[in-house]
Amino acid sequence: MKPTAVPVGVFDSGVGGLSVLQAIRSLLPAQPLLYFGDQAHVPYGPRSLEEVRAFSEEITRFLLRRGARLIVVACNTASAAALQHLRQVFPDVPFVGMEPAVKPAAERSQTHRVGVLATPATFQGALYASVVERFTHGTTIFQDTCPGLVQEIEGGRLDGEETRRILEQALLPMLENHIDTVVLGCTHYPFVIPLIQEIVGEFIQVIDPAPAIARQTRRLLEQNGWLSQAESPARMQFFTSGNPQFFSDLLLQLIGESKPVEQVVWDGLSLPD
Ligand code: DGL
Repeated sequence: MKPTAVPVGVFDSGVGGLSVLQAIRSLLPAQPLLYFGDQAHVPYGPRSLEEVRAFSEEITRFLLRRGARLIVVACNTASAAALQHLRQVFPDVPFVGMEPAVKPAAERSQTHRVGVLATPATFQGALYASVVERFTHGTTIFQDTCPGLVQEIEGGRLDGEETRRILEQALLPMLENHIDTVVLGCTHYPFVIPLIQEIVGEFIQVIDPAPAIARQTRRLLEQNGWLSQAESPARMQFFTSGNPQFFSDLLLQLIGESKPVEQVVWDGLSLPD
């Protein structure tokens, strides 16, 4: 009997998780995908871990009600705040979460100096502290929270003056400290890789964890017998708690998809069905 294709739910504070969705789509085109962008509450980075945890739990319930069986927390901030909690609250649901890729970065760096760009909440979380503690012995880590960068990307300004200023402010001091590797610890940031690469030069490696997250999603689908065997591309559905027109413009700009976007009006407490 053919295994049944089940939808994968993917969520983020906004459009950042689309960088992960794109990697999943290119690896698993036949798997149905549901995406929720919580644009009513973006950015998550400066919020408390408790608040982001509560949002993440509600969004997970929403995606499960819409048929998702596996959830990809396509947001480093939400993973830092909520992944452990989500696994406890939904013990039967497999989750894929994100953490800044400092392990591969420390392994690859020749100068043993690595720059990490992530949100304040991600840097505060126990998950980040634990990967740094476990995997970066002998490597010096330079961190920056790139204040305002998520909002610039949400505004579609991938190459704007302010976007460049924020990135230069983060990256130039790291270059002076001889980093040779940059970790993108926020799923919004892969959309500004061309600008990052222009600032740091072609010899600095920039690590985007999205392909590894897609491979982990495939492993979990296989383990559960949920990997779609269909030949044709599956359905993708998009939801935003913000303005659906803004979301749909960004969907086209960022990943070249032209799809309807459903608005889910949300006061931040319980999400409607
Ligand atoms: N894209 C998110 C992350 O990976 C969250 C950015 C934000 O909302 O501050 O951390």
